[in-house]
Amino acid sequence: MTTTLIRGGTVVSATGSSLADVLVDGETIRAVLAPGSELLGVDLARSVDRVIDATGKYVIPGGIDAHTHMELPFGGTAASDTFETGTRAAAWGGTTTIIDFAVQTYGQRIEDGLAAWHEKAAGQCAIDYGFHQIVGDVNEASLTALRGLADEGISSYKLFMAYPGVFYSDDAQILKAMQVAADTGLMTMMHAENGPAIDVLVQQLLAQGKSDPYFHGVARAWQMEEEATHRAIMLANLTGAPLYVVHVSAKQAVAQLAAARDAGQNVFGETCPQYLYLSLEEQLGARSDEWGDFEGAKWVCSTPLRSKHEHHQDELWSALRTNDIQMVSTDHCPFCMKDQKELGRGDFSKIPNGIGSVEHRMDLLYQGVVDGHISLERWVEITATTPARMFGLYGKKGVIQPGADADIVVYDPAGHTSIGVEQTHHMNMDYSAWEGFEIDGHVDTVLSRGRVVVDDRQYLGRAGDGSFVKRGLSQYLL
Ligand code: URP
Ligand code: ZN
Ligand code: ZN
Ligand code: ZN
Repeated sequence: MTTTLIRGGTVVSATGSSLADVLVDGETIRAVLAPGSELLGVDLARSVDRVIDATGKYVIPGGIDAHTHMELPFGGTAASDTFETGTRAAAWGGTTTIIDFAVQTYGQRIEDGLAAWHEKAAGQCAIDYGFHQIVGDVNEASLTALRGLADEGISSYKLFMAYPGVFYSDDAQILKAMQVAADTGLMTMMHAENGPAIDVLVQQLLAQGKSDPYFHGVARAWQMEEEATHRAIMLANLTGAPLYVVHVSAKQAVAQLAAARDAGQNVFGETCPQYLYLSLEEQLGARSDEWGDFEGAKWVCSTPLRSKHEHHQDELWSALRTNDIQMVSTDHCPFCMKDQKELGRGDFSKIPNGIGSVEHRMDLLYQGVVDGHISLERWVEITATTPARMFGLYGKKGVIQPGADADIVVYDPAGHTSIGVEQTHHMNMDYSAWEGFEIDGHVDTVLSRGRVVVDDRQYLGRAGDGSFVKRGLSQYLL
């Protein structure tokens, strides 16, 4: 077993920061010590196998991205990152755990959908991974299968109020699933957009010849997100099921969540980097020489990017500060422009939905610290500690403390990261949704369960380093 001492850094947790040395023994954190400590009279730096000098740097728990879609079949194609490429890119960016969504398609058994996801991921991953379960067909058999999910280490499932004919559940199905969730303690994750109403708007826009990516954002109006968020909250309230609303982009949806939380309900919200930085006008409405008006397809995702004139970004940053929104995941769902996004040329509704960001979440949120939106400690909380607590991994993940997995990132606040396809990008995509973003910080060294997988701009891990992690019930409930 290898022993490692991470020496001289500032250990940052959700509750504070202090100069400390971290001793790693095999896959586990053994001790967090005052700087330069001896242990039982032995100079640690001399007796360990490896010393990592973290002087002037932050030592943080590895990022947990609780919302990814590796290899997701969608819109007649599949997300372009495999578990191998996507988890490697995650490691490059300081994320050491992902929670991906196993899919039950319509007509399929949940057990079979889950088994297929295990098969895709096993032996491929660079970092540890867990699964949520997408339930695309709520029926009696699915409800029975839901009752056994927690025993499989899958303590959360996702329903869709959007995408009629694909993943959509109606209110009756949602109610029944939530009743099971209230009974079993499963977290209900909700894609909250009014899909049937959106589909009417989509058809009306297309009939008027409005087929550019920009109109994806027009059709998926914020009213559709606010209404669905409210409806999900009410159904959760009625059943007593805890609720986690994914990819929140509209400030009006944030207000719905905040009101329910203030009333004492177990309701939580996640946002994503794209909603904090990108907009309907600047990205979905973009033009380029290469792609013309179709340039905006790069940023077609649901919920959509919102209008900069409505100040959703400011409200989301504010909600992150005040804990009206609890955490940030990427909703990493990459598609190449060529042959994938291109499927929707001339009809925005056929553009596969999704943005790739798994590599950049830690950096993009750190820039929020530099820009004064959030504190250093809040950065760690919303990217690692709360995701661990929310989804039943805390203690093992999300914290630097004795006994925890040694998933650790050494982050250099004096470093710099230029994001783009040519520079830093390891995702399997032919463009970057973040091209040209400059980050005032850098992921220096990444340990995944004690193994150094990224160091000094080199990847040192291999496919299969990462294991499936069984999760417990949420540790974040009121
Ligand atoms: O656009 C998105 N979000 N694609 C992934 C599927 C989902 O709804 O999360
Ligand atoms: Zn979704
Ligand atoms: Zn509040
Ligand atoms: Zn998603």
